Amino acid sequence: MNPSAAAGDPRAIVEITKDKNGIDQVVLRNPRGASVQVSLHGGQVLSWKTDRGEELLFTSSKAIFKPPAAVRGGIPICFPQFGNRGSLEQHGFARNKIWVIDDNPPPLHPNDSGGKAYTDLLLKSSEEDLKAWPHRFEFRLRVSLSADGYLTMISRIRNINCKPFSFSIAYHTYFAVSDISEVRVEGLETLDYLDNLCQKERFTEQGDALTFESEVDRIYLSSSDVIGVFDHEKKRTFVIRKEGLPDVVVWNPWERKSKSLIDFGDEEYKQMLCVDGAAIEKPITLKPGEEWTGRLELSVVPTL
Ligand code: BG6
Repeated sequence: MNPSAAAGDPRAIVEITKDKNGIDQVVLRNPRGASVQVSLHGGQVLSWKTDRGEELLFTSSKAIFKPPAAVRGGIPICFPQFGNRGSLEQHGFARNKIWVIDDNPPPLHPNDSGGKAYTDLLLKSSEEDLKAWPHRFEFRLRVSLSADGYLTMISRIRNINCKPFSFSIAYHTYFAVSDISEVRVEGLETLDYLDNLCQKERFTEQGDALTFESEVDRIYLSSSDVIGVFDHEKKRTFVIRKEGLPDVVVWNPWERKSKSLIDFGDEEYKQMLCVDGAAIEKPITLKPGEEWTGRLELSVVPTL
């Protein structure tokens, strides 16, 4: 086992396996049997399971597991942009790249290691990336699974350039839901949002909680750091806690758009909802040598 993937708790397990393309995957297991699977392709979390083996993230039955395209599901990381502005590919290149295990990450706070199974991954700009986005960076990602099954992703992005650069980022989290019509999102009430279905026009959320009956593709701005995704049928709530990530993307392609996605089943929009912790509206600017940290913590609790 690579020492950089050492568990923070001797009873937690960290294993490295290979997928069918020969790409390393790290599997984290906590002492109760919950697990997280992370691929070095994109640094993408592909699975997050409870201690009863229940999968909490959606992956399409039509997902294509072949780099460079990101897998349709799990948690693709959108960096250095969200969306498709300019010459960069849609949602940036980080999700399409092969990351490496970070053998010597700068230390994090002891709370981010103790009692957790974790792995540290690293992405640096390649010569090819520099042609599309001429900024040298180091992107360090800590993915960890706590003893109580919480999944945490800590991103540290450092400017190793001699001039400033700006970026956007989103953890494009595909939550598995029982039936989208039974889901509501709380924590976005009264916020302004940019509607991708109306040329990013700005609106204000009016409802008490967000429910779903058609395609939704929005960026909610400056939200609080806790968002709840309630699944009535499953009687469970995903709790999203975030730091350094002011915005929240909410996406469900619904019926028509689903049919246009080659790696997504026609009816699968009913079983997923993307709710992303993100920093999009106000890109983050780093001076030479500066580092930004963003943190996303996901947990699931029974709904009373
Ligand atoms: C959403 C975008 O967040 O991601 C949508 O706002 C896009 O417009 C969706 O369709 C999925 O993107 P992709 O590149 O993974 O198909």
